[in-house]
Amino acid sequence: MTRKANSIQKTLVFPTASEIWNPEGIFSDDVPSPHFRSELGQLYADDCLAILPQIREGVIDTVFADPPFNLGKKYGSKVNDSLSEAEYLDWCKRWLLECIRILKPGGSLFVYNLPKWNIPIGAFLSESGMTFRHWIAVNIKMLLPIPGRLYPSHYSLLYYCKGPKPKTFRNIRTPIQVCRHCGKEIKDYGGHRDAMNPKGVNLTDVWDDVPPVRHAKFKSEKRKANQLSTKLVSRAVEMSTTKGDLVLDPFGGSGTTFDVCESRHRHWIGIELEDYDLIVDRLTTDTIAQHQFNDHIEE
Ligand SMILES: C[S@@+](CC[C@H](N)C(=O)[O-])C[C@H]1O[C@@H](n2cnc3c(N)ncnc32)[C@H](O)[C@@H]1O
Repeated sequence: MTRKANSIQKTLVFPTASEIWNPEGIFSDDVPSPHFRSELGQLYADDCLAILPQIREGVIDTVFADPPFNLGKKYGSKVNDSLSEAEYLDWCKRWLLECIRILKPGGSLFVYNLPKWNIPIGAFLSESGMTFRHWIAVNIKMLLPIPGRLYPSHYSLLYYCKGPKPKTFRNIRTPIQVCRHCGKEIKDYGGHRDAMNPKGVNLTDVWDDVPPVRHAKFKSEKRKANQLSTKLVSRAVEMSTTKGDLVLDPFGGSGTTFDVCESRHRHWIGIELEDYDLIVDRLTTDTIAQHQFNDHIEE
């Protein structure tokens, strides 16, 4: 059962019993039953606040969290996305504390959210002993203008680590940008082009090359919105883990993180409260393509 990184071809099938990953030592005595298992990961169909406390302290390499943004979206009957500001932040603090607890020393935590929420979330993480690494501005071209305000054009990806420094940080280089019409390079790099690393430029904390999940081939048939690009999640995973490490995503959605982990040979634990069958569909069929990933990861 193999999948090729960077490929839009998927060859996943349900694993046989001997291929299934056994997350020994990850859960406390009350091991919950996963809804789906693969050779690399396990999906739990439940509230993350019910599953996270059953995970032992210090066992996860990276947490990637893309929670509901409290914008009144309809995820299903079990999720209330219209909380008061205080209730929303209180809820975030509860799952964040669990995420901090289960991270290994030096483990990484990524939280994708609106700038409005990632300001108090970042402050809470710093107060809770986590170390700030980056506020990554992810340029999003699809937001609507708001009267009387600046045109919002980025979401925030907070990147923290547990303890003074990350146990894994792999430098990423992105390809030198070319014009998509004429193919010529866009910048002249101040006359230093010849001295540049042929593998690309160092990734910055402004990501303006993450495509929106717009085309049908990248989307779940059963879920049309709130799906992250595999390119964004691949970067976070590649930056903070190596093959065989364990990534947890408490808000599975359409399963982007698990799809990325499968192609990049990371173990994963996923949780999703609403429709999890579409995640299983995604992981076991060829229906959703991944965005092209041209980054160079320095070993
Ligand atoms: C913004 S979406 C995540 C999208 C995902 N990153 C993707 O690319 O498909 C948030 C998800 O969290 C789920 N969710 C909300 N509250 C939850 C909870 N308490 N426990 C687990 N999942 C929850 C929602 O049903 C929704 O699918």
